[in-house]
Amino acid sequence: MRNIRKEAEPPGRSASERRCRYAEARAQLASLLEGESDPVARMASAAALLAEVLPQASFAGFYRAFGDQLVIGPYQGPPACLRIPFGRGVCGTSARENRSLLVADVRTFPGHIACDPLARSELVVPVHDAAGALVAVCDLDSREPGAFDEVDREELEAMMGLLFGRS
Ligand code: SME
Repeated sequence: MRNIRKEAEPPGRSASERRCRYAEARAQLASLLEGESDPVARMASAAALLAEVLPQASFAGFYRAFGDQLVIGPYQGPPACLRIPFGRGVCGTSARENRSLLVADVRTFPGHIACDPLARSELVVPVHDAAGALVAVCDLDSREPGAFDEVDREELEAMMGLLFGRS
């Protein structure tokens, strides 16, 4: 299924084309979320949309923050680790440090959690509620090295700001 989607995506899209696609996705997400307050429904919609926008992502979804643990939330992709302690792997480090992490080669990231042994790169962005508290991290993984860049980080942060009011 992923391969079919990938073939439909033109290779080597420019940064401005990608920003345009993200702008469309943001508008689509805002419309999907309108009138829906359930957090799982909101995260599930965002995960589905991200999987469409980012064919290079093998996993697109959320880990929710509970105390000092992350627990798997809505996602698209192969079965993943269910719980990640804060401070472990890319997701746990992003949650503990409350900042986005762009990792071009996961083999260089100490303590990377290989839920998917084929994963090569990732982008993790914290998600906050309207009061600014961390509620989740959004995790994008790819089986290609360097699959995400600063454009993706900025755009994903902007999209995550729509989810619960502030990011
Ligand atoms: N790669 C992540 C773990 C989660 S998944 O691979 C779905 C990490 O190191 O944080």
